[in-house]
Amino acid sequence: MFRKVLLPATLFALSAVVAYAQPAGKLAGGPYVVRVGPDRATVAWVLEFTEGGKSVLRAQKLAISGLTPGKTYHYDLLGKDEGKGYFKSAPDGASPFRFAVFGDTRTRHEVHQNVVNAMEKSEPDFVLHTGDLVADGTKTEQWPVFFGIERELLKKTAFFPALGNHERNDPRFYEFFDIEKPYYSFRWGNAYFVILNSDLGNAASNEEERKAFWEEQSQWLEAELVKSQEAGFRFVVFHHPPITAVKRRQGEKHPVQEWMPLLEKYKVTAVFNGHDHNYQHHIRNGVHYIVTGGGGAPLYEVDAPVPGVTQTVEKIEHFVVIEVDGSKARLEAKALDGRLIERIDFNP
Ligand SMILES: [Fe+2]
Repeated sequence: MFRKVLLPATLFALSAVVAYAQPAGKLAGGPYVVRVGPDRATVAWVLEFTEGGKSVLRAQKLAISGLTPGKTYHYDLLGKDEGKGYFKSAPDGASPFRFAVFGDTRTRHEVHQNVVNAMEKSEPDFVLHTGDLVADGTKTEQWPVFFGIERELLKKTAFFPALGNHERNDPRFYEFFDIEKPYYSFRWGNAYFVILNSDLGNAASNEEERKAFWEEQSQWLEAELVKSQEAGFRFVVFHHPPITAVKRRQGEKHPVQEWMPLLEKYKVTAVFNGHDHNYQHHIRNGVHYIVTGGGGAPLYEVDAPVPGVTQTVEKIEHFVVIEVDGSKARLEAKALDGRLIERIDFNP
């Protein structure tokens, strides 16, 4: 259930105060910022209520429009430190920007915290999550843990998550992150981002509906890729990797593999996946596939590199940072001790 909080609010670049009457309830997540574009953003936070002896989480949202592209906005939601934060609106044109990608934060909370702390130091303009935010999206108590660990990072950046299988397609994913459909896109400077839902198993309750969902999403993907041909870079994010160097998963068929010809045809720069808890970099027909599932879930062996395709693999906790500057885009995969796992220069 959506509960939109629309209040008379003013947001000033660099020194904003949003004043409103906070409904009764304990702060259980956020604030965080989603659906950020050049002129709009949604600032959200999660409150915990007790109803009928049960804990219930509800996202509160403040939709903001009329922003100037590429500007930093500060907000102050609660009149105290825990409600303060900032984000940058998406820039127009070819302004330089930096984003980070990570995934599979669902378990080993101390590792998740260390990854988040390291990412915060990179000061990304926004963060992409490749899915499996929590171990079980249907479990109320897991979301405040996720938001607690992410708090300092999400107060300083914008957040764009993909749905993983562990979210179980729970309605809270949609409510918290202000997502209408589990596939969506956005433009940031001269790059175009497409987020997909590869968790077909939980996408619908029967085979016919799952098939219809997949067809609709695949058609949408192609239309988005056509639309994004003018962009300097195209990045696609979904949870299940179409290429894996994890031996026990290599025999598994997944419909994401059907997307590869489309990704190649429309010259996607790089695909970001998770699901395998390690770091992998593959190149197939000009498309880079980055598996970044090192956010906390127990690590998997990367024991079967694909000949001629796999570039680098490592069983390690990590995250990746991408700097885009005009016609240049450079990825750095970083281990938690600061060591560089790999550097990749993407061609526009
Ligand atoms: Fe997964």
